Amino acid sequence: MYRIAPSILSANFAKLGDEVGNVIASGADWIHFDVMDNHYVPNLTIGPLVCTAIRPLTKATIDVHLMVRPVDQLAQDFARAGANVITFHPEASDHVDRTLSLIREEGCLAGLVFNPATPLDYMDFVMDRLDNVMLMSVNPGFGGQQFIPATLDKLRAAKARLDAYEQKSGRRIMLEIDGGVKVDNIAEIARAGADTFVAGSAVFGAGKESDPHRYDSVIAAL
Ligand code: DX5
Ligand code: ZN
Repeated sequence: MYRIAPSILSANFAKLGDEVGNVIASGADWIHFDVMDNHYVPNLTIGPLVCTAIRPLTKATIDVHLMVRPVDQLAQDFARAGANVITFHPEASDHVDRTLSLIREEGCLAGLVFNPATPLDYMDFVMDRLDNVMLMSVNPGFGGQQFIPATLDKLRAAKARLDAYEQKSGRRIMLEIDGGVKVDNIAEIARAGADTFVAGSAVFGAGKESDPHRYDSVIAAL
């Protein structure tokens, strides 16, 4: 089963509720929130208040990508603001195992996200606490960047680990890809093993205008 998670980073923030409504109407069942703190990454975006504002508008899964340091307080705040999936960068947490547990204790699914140069080994001893593994296919901080081709090999490696874990445990961990996902590469990315696809500029058109057909063309390309 494939999921598209449109990233509101590329939406028109002056009409964010309508933008979210448009992609939900097109069939999106996840909405990706890029949370940046001008500290872990060189950009500043949205906090839990925006999640609180969007939550009553939709039953869609709110997929929070925390690009912040420290992690724990904001993870808890987003959980209480209505997030469903909370994924963080392991380098940004002093105690990865504890942060994963904290997210689950708040009733959310917990994920780790790997920067292009971050080894997958971070997941080895916390598989039982993981619901989502996300690979960055661009360096985090901005929408509209080019997909880094080496991510395809890394995806295959991550999928092999998740397959082996499923064999052993009977539990499937989701494999999400974030950055540079477009109509012309999404099928190849799916073949490499991703089941969940963040798409920002491909869906929202970089804040210029909202076009409901963009979502349809991304999903049609899968
Ligand atoms: C980058 C963000 C991405 C970004 C993707 O730090 O994590 O989610 O919005 O945008 P596109 O799809 O335009 O690469
Ligand atoms: Zn993201």
